[in-house]
Amino acid sequence: MKPCFLHDCAAMFVAASIDASDKPTLYAELGRQAEGLLHGERDRTANAANFAALVWHALPEINWCGFYFFDGNELVVGPFQGRPACVRIALGKGVCGTAAVTRESQLVHDVNAFDGHIACDSASRSEVVVPLFEGKSLLGVWDVDSPLVGRFDTDDRAGMERLCEIFLQSLQPTPA
Ligand code: SME
Repeated sequence: MKPCFLHDCAAMFVAASIDASDKPTLYAELGRQAEGLLHGERDRTANAANFAALVWHALPEINWCGFYFFDGNELVVGPFQGRPACVRIALGKGVCGTAAVTRESQLVHDVNAFDGHIACDSASRSEVVVPLFEGKSLLGVWDVDSPLVGRFDTDDRAGMERLCEIFLQSLQPTPA
């Protein structure tokens, strides 16, 4: 098996290109890269920024990926890759607000068929959003958009959920 990443010093991380023939393999590999990338750092902004950059460069056919964090009232855009985005999303609004309120990942085949979809980028045609929790408290959501209808399937949803677990785990204190 090829090494999934080079992590030779604390200051440098080089993600290897992923050559996977199926999505579960791709997400497993990406998960290993995420674990390596986030290892040893607990800062939420730093890890969210690097996580978004890792996914952005690893996945084909996406035009936005990033975080919205809950500020106690609404969702506020966090680290992301892609075009500038809507800053604030009310709970229950759009795909992101729906994921936050229902506490379930949203897999949207065609955003034009999703009532209330918020078009930050008119190029977006499909979307997957994973809600994030710290214990029972809403932390925010992870959102990935594609310019292709039907870009994401249940393998992508499961893969994104696993990646988000790795992100959330990275924020936890390590046991003494
Ligand atoms: N489409 C999202 C809004 C966020 S952007 O896609 C970056 C939604 O409907 O919640």
